[in-house]
Formats: sequence, C-alpha cells, structure tokens
Amino acid sequence: MGKKILIIGGIARDHALAWKFAQSPVVEEVFVAPGNPGVNSVATQVDIAVDAYDQLIAFAKEKAIDLAYVSGDDQLGDGLVDLFEKAGIRAFGPSKAAARIEASKAFSKDFMKGHGIPTAAYETFDEYEKAVTYLAGQSVPIVIKASGLAGGKGAVICHTANEAETTLREMMQDNKFGAAGNEVVIEEFMSGPEISIHAFSDGTNYVLFPPAQDHKAALDGNKGLNTGGMGVVAPLSGVSEELMVRIEKEIVAPVIDGMRAAGTPFVGVLYPGIMLTDDGPKVLEYNARLGDPETQAYLRLLEADLMEVVEACLDGTLDQVDVRWSGKTAVNIVLASGGYPAAYEKGKVISGIEKAEGDGAVIVFHAGTALESDRLVTSGGRVLSVSAIGDDLDDALEKAYAAADRIQFEGKALRHDIGKAHDNSKLAKF
Ligand code: AMP
Ligand code: GLY
Repeated sequence: MGKKILIIGGIARDHALAWKFAQSPVVEEVFVAPGNPGVNSVATQVDIAVDAYDQLIAFAKEKAIDLAYVSGDDQLGDGLVDLFEKAGIRAFGPSKAAARIEASKAFSKDFMKGHGIPTAAYETFDEYEKAVTYLAGQSVPIVIKASGLAGGKGAVICHTANEAETTLREMMQDNKFGAAGNEVVIEEFMSGPEISIHAFSDGTNYVLFPPAQDHKAALDGNKGLNTGGMGVVAPLSGVSEELMVRIEKEIVAPVIDGMRAAGTPFVGVLYPGIMLTDDGPKVLEYNARLGDPETQAYLRLLEADLMEVVEACLDGTLDQVDVRWSGKTAVNIVLASGGYPAAYEKGKVISGIEKAEGDGAVIVFHAGTALESDRLVTSGGRVLSVSAIGDDLDDALEKAYAAADRIQFEGKALRHDIGKAHDNSKLAKF
C-alpha cells in the first residue's frame, strides 16, 4: 500500500508540491486542504481551511494520512506540526519553537546576533515612546519591520523621517498589522542584489538547494509595492561555489547547529533571504518553509523523490539521500490580478491555460483561482504561476513568456523583466 499525504495550503507552491508528491513511487494519494482547482489534476482537493486545525486533524485520522505537510508560515508559527504530532500523525515542517526563526523577527534578529550571523544592525522595541526616541537619532533611509507575520508586507523602507514616524505610528499605535506590530524591529538600510537560499534539514544534517532569485516588487524595474513574489529564476547563474560555501558556513549552519543546541532542532526547509552587500552576504530574514514562487521553479528541477527527502528529514537520515537536481534552468512568471498587492477585483474568467501548457516544458500552477459554475475565474491577488524549464535562462524565459501570453483574464498583470531586473553584476565580487 502506498502512502497518503495531506498538504495544508492553497497557493501555487502547494499545487507544485502536490504535482511533485504525486510522482513519488511510494505515494498512493495526495490530498490538499483547501487546495485550489489546479490541484485536481494530480490530487484530491479537501474543503477544509488552512486554519481549521481540529478539522484537519480529524480528516487526517479518518483517512489514515501517513504524512501531513504543513506549508504556510502562519500554520507553522501556530505550531500545527506539533498539533499533528500530538495527535499521532507524522508532520513535516519545523515545530512551533523552531518556526520562531520566521514568526518572530525579534527572536530571529536576537538569534542572529547571538550566533554571529551577518545581518543589518538593529534595535527591537515593544514600547512606542522608546521607539520614537530611538528613531529621532537615526538617519534615513531606515527599515521598520513588524516583528510578527504580516503576509510579506511588514517590512517598510522609509526614505524620510516623516515616513518613518508615520510607519512606526501605524504599526505600534494604529495596529495596521494587528498584533504583529506590537513589537517592531528598526534596522539599518542595506543595498545589493537579493538571493533566495533554501536548505532541507533533518535537525542535524542539511542540504542546500541551488540559489534562486525572486522579484518582489510589483512592477518592472523593481518599482511599486512589495508583493509575495512576481517571478523566480533558478538556479541563479553567477553565484560562485565560494559564495555558496560562505553562505552555508555563515548563514545556514549556525541556525541548524544553534537550534539543535537550544533543544529546538530545525526540521524542515530553512529559507534565508539574503542581500549581497559590499560587506558580504547578510540575512534579510529567515523563512521556515519553502518560498513562493521559488518552489514553482525548484520542484521542476528536483530529480530526487520528494517523499524520500521529506521522510529522511523526519528520520534524521538526510545524509543518506542523494538530493539530485537537473542541470536545466527553471523560471516562473506570476500572473496577478490588476491592482495587486493593493485592491483588485475577483471573478474574471480565465482562458488559455491548456494552450499555454501545450509544450511539455510549461506547467501552469494555480494560486488564486476558483470554479464558478464550471468556469475558471480569478479569486486572489496572485492568480497563476507559469513555470517553464529550458536549457538555459533565455530558453526558459522564452517558453514562460510565450505561455504567459496565451493566458487571458481581464486585468492580467505581470512583470516583463523576470531574470533581467536585478543588478547581478555584484555577484561576481564574491
Ligand atoms: P523581509 O520581509 O524582512 O524579507 O523584507 C522584505 C523586503 O524588504 C526584502 O526582500 C528587501 O527587499 C527589503 N528589505 C528588508 N530589510 C531590508 C534592509 N535592512 N535594507 C534594505 N532592504 C530591506
Ligand atoms: N518568495 C517570498 C516568500 O515566499 O516569502
């Protein structure tokens, strides 16, 4: 009898996970709660919300689920992995204690300081008056971050003193990010190209993925508001072996070793966002999960059986698995609703996905889609993630953009400069 997996999530990352798990020779059935219409071709959609923890656990028991894959930051931060385990169900992802590396920026920054991990200089405040006084003595630009999880929108780069004061007031006094802003981190502004690093870990051993690059700003030329991510390239060429070794030693190993030493081993995927500054690679933040849209590129390249890798993480035997990647390049282009990440309309009819997928190099992963009387419509900010593999970056980009063109819905918004937008010339310095 093959194994049954329950993925908790419903964004494009989770469609990609379902697609990959469904290919495992040891997996019999994949469930995704709540999933989205896209997952139906590879898995069974379950109508339970990501935060209905009792229902998710009851469902997992009823179906005799062998593995619950907790995908999202909010659920990891709430300790859903611990809840599944208490209920006797194996679950993949860091425990609540280990997920604090993402869920609390104050914890994360203190951890970095305590372990000598390179990051922006900072101060943490839970009293508004003290934060105001500190801010008055700082120069701009300066970065203010809500300590808790804020859907990727809790970091604000302030270019004027006025903007900084307003941001601080909105976070700490006006509860713009709810309880996430009760505590803030005020940190030094850094500049340089950003890269995404991911590593599987079993709590002791870890294996780095190839480097990737996300494009967080909404508009071409890195303009506009920050989004969850508008497109990714993996692997990112130009990242030297030496730089990867340095990142492993200075940024990945100290977390895995430090968490284990603290009695809260990190089992799951560690995803540091890194800025390559003139002073070397520095951590912007740690995530305790796979990135989106990084996953929609990575899983197109992963040749190893994902179930084998995940089980090895849980068994503490990651050192015995060959985590193989293909030599190709993967990219994805996010198609968003016009207006995202600010207000946007929903319910626009989507067409052209089958045509876009015509050539096997392209897979369209769903995020904010829904079925309305059998018609596929938009239902979120990021709607689809068009992924393509190619022999090199240009080949992959050509395929992805040709496919993105074939998909239509009113208000379709995308970046036209994925893979071209960043000043990656600095990569060569490391
Ligand atoms: P975070 O949620 O902390 O990763 O921040 C989101 C984005 O804000 C990052 O991807 C960077 O583009 C930007 N950012 C965060 N911290 C800094 C910083 N100290 N200096 C410059 N940009 C930053
Ligand atoms: N790629 C951005 C994120 O997953 O947080």
